[in-house]
Amino acid sequence: MGSGNHVAVARALMAWFRRSARRMDWRETDDPYRIWVSEIMLQQTRVSTVTPYYRRFLAAFPDVEALARASLGAVLKRWEGLGYYSRARNLHKAAGILRERHACLIPSSVDALMALPGVGRSTAGAIAAIAFRQDVPILDANVKRVVARLHAVREDVRRASVERTLWEHSRRTILPGKGRETALAMMDLGSSVCTPRAPDCPACPLAKWCEARPLGIQESIPRRPAKKTLPHRDRAVAVIRNRQGKILVRRRSESGLLGGLWELPGSGKTAGETLTGALARELREGFGIDVEVDETFAALRHGYSHFRVTLHAYRCRKTKGKVRSSREWKWATPAELEDLAMPRADRKILEQVKINLHEKGISK
Ligand code: ADE
Repeated sequence: MGSGNHVAVARALMAWFRRSARRMDWRETDDPYRIWVSEIMLQQTRVSTVTPYYRRFLAAFPDVEALARASLGAVLKRWEGLGYYSRARNLHKAAGILRERHACLIPSSVDALMALPGVGRSTAGAIAAIAFRQDVPILDANVKRVVARLHAVREDVRRASVERTLWEHSRRTILPGKGRETALAMMDLGSSVCTPRAPDCPACPLAKWCEARPLGIQESIPRRPAKKTLPHRDRAVAVIRNRQGKILVRRRSESGLLGGLWELPGSGKTAGETLTGALARELREGFGIDVEVDETFAALRHGYSHFRVTLHAYRCRKTKGKVRSSREWKWATPAELEDLAMPRADRKILEQVKINLHEKGISK
C-alpha cells in the first residue's frame, strides 16, 4: 500500500466512525482512571457483559485512592462472575503502586503505563490514545484481524516478526491528531464489520483498499491454529454444615487460577482413588477432619481458558476432628457467604444448597 493510500484509509475510517460510533459508558468520560478500568475489564470480555460490572465497580471504587484503600477481597467481590480474576488482582496492585509512586495519577506515556501490572502494550496504547489523546497504535484481537486482512497477512499472527509488522500497519491507520478516534474506530470496525466469521465487507469503509477481499481469503485471516480439545477434569467438592448451619469454605492462594477467591473445599482424584475417597483424604490432610461423604446432589460443568471441569458436589458430615489448616478458612453463615468473592461454579452449588434446604423447610 502506497503512503498516499494510508492517509486515504485513515480518512475513510474517520468518516465511517463519525457516522457509526457506538455509545458506551467509558466513551463518555475523559477520566483516565475510568478508562483504565474499562480497558482492563474489556480484555477478553464483551461490551454487554462488562457494562453492568463497570458501573458497579466504579460506584464502589470511584477513583485510584478508593481502589488502593479497598481490600483485595472487596475488589474481587465486585469482579465476581467476570472471570480472569488476575485482572482484578493486578488492578488492585496497580492502584497501590499509583498511590505510592504517582500521587494517584494515571501516567500518560505508553512505557509508564506498561510498567503497571496487567497493562500490556495494546492496553497501554488504548489508555494513552483514549484518555490522553495520543497518536499511538493499539493491537488487540479485533485490530489485529482488521490490519491482517487489510494487508492480506497470511502468516501466523502470533509470531513476533509478524506481530511487529501488524503494529506498524496499525500505526499507519492513525490520522494525525486523531489517535483516540482511530483507536475506537478500529475497535468498532473489528467488532461490528470485520468480524471473525462472515465479515460484512460491503459495509466496510476500507473495502476499497482491502488486500484480502479480492483474493477471497478474508475469512481465513488471521490463520486460526488447530483447535485443541481442552482437557477435562472431575473434582469433588464438599458442603459441610456445622451445628449452627454454617458452611466450611477456604480461600485460594493469591497466585494462580481464581487466586484469592473463596471456595468449597475440594479435590481432584489421583490414580487408584475414587472421587469420594479423594475428597475424604483432602479433608483429612488439608483440614484435619474426618468426614462421612453422603450423597452427591449437584454436578456442574465449567469451562476455564485451559481446561474444563465438572464439579461434583457432596454433602459431607464431620465425624471427627476440629478444623485446622495452614490455609485461610472459615465457617460462614449464608449472609457471610454472600459477601465473599467465590467462583461462579461454587456459587451455583451454594444456590442449590439453599434451594434444597428451603424445600426441606430448614430455614438456616
Ligand atoms: N471502547 C473503548 N475501549 C474499548 C475496547 N477495549 N473495546 C471495545 N470498545 C471500546
